[in-house]
Amino acid sequence: MVIEKTISATNQFYAVRNSDYVYPVEFVVRAFLGTYPNLKMDRSTYAGSKILDLGYGDGRNMPLLFNLGFDVYGVEISDEINELASKRLLKLGVPATVRTGRNASIPFEEGLFQYVLACHSCYYVDEGTTFETTLDETCRVLDKEGTFICSVPMHDTYILQDAEPLPNGYWRLTNDPYNYRKGVVFRAFKTEEEIRATFEKQFKDIIIGFCDDNFFGVHQKVWIIVCKKKS
Ligand SMILES: C[S@@+](CC[C@H](N)C(=O)[O-])C[C@H]1O[C@@H](n2cnc3c(N)ncnc32)[C@H](O)[C@@H]1O
Repeated sequence: MVIEKTISATNQFYAVRNSDYVYPVEFVVRAFLGTYPNLKMDRSTYAGSKILDLGYGDGRNMPLLFNLGFDVYGVEISDEINELASKRLLKLGVPATVRTGRNASIPFEEGLFQYVLACHSCYYVDEGTTFETTLDETCRVLDKEGTFICSVPMHDTYILQDAEPLPNGYWRLTNDPYNYRKGVVFRAFKTEEEIRATFEKQFKDIIIGFCDDNFFGVHQKVWIIVCKKKS
């Protein structure tokens, strides 16, 4: 029931926020293009690699990924969101193969991707699944030693202020300033150690950063994680 309601509310959200142009998220630009003491991505591997943008939304990160030389693929939760984004991406000259699916069931074959990006999306956890289900599923579609880049919320980010705490780091949203995710369950993390303990079963070379941004009253706090699938 929550899933159907959320799909319909999310369709509505993107139908209204349907602009011609889209612009990438800062941490995504930094992760792919920056050089930092703890993160040195090998840009020579981008051209011709397949990247999945999991929960890609309006596709705001896809023009960047295409410009970097990736073959771009995406998953969203409804055909409506995919149709809307496909039209926009066509106009922008960004080829992308998009399919309808969920974090816990990604509609692409095993080992297809050299990279998976999940920008503010992989921590949406469907009933009957866990965050680990999503990590397993991400690993399934990643190639040997493929790279996973994602953000996950800190336990005290804006959207969890009034959320209902559930056991084991899960939270049920009771409020959403953007008004389309009430009832949805998020997995959030308090510490780097908790992230490492959760990711290290499937991933290695785990590099962690964080963003603490106050966007004029929206105080967003997210961890940024870059890691490689264990071979
Ligand atoms: C905060 S938005 C981020 C969208 C996009 N990655 C971006 O950075 O603009 C979260 C996205 O995750 C999608 N989503 C929600 N639940 C999901 C699930 N269970 N599996 C996959 N995607 C999901 C939503 O439709 C939404 O577009």
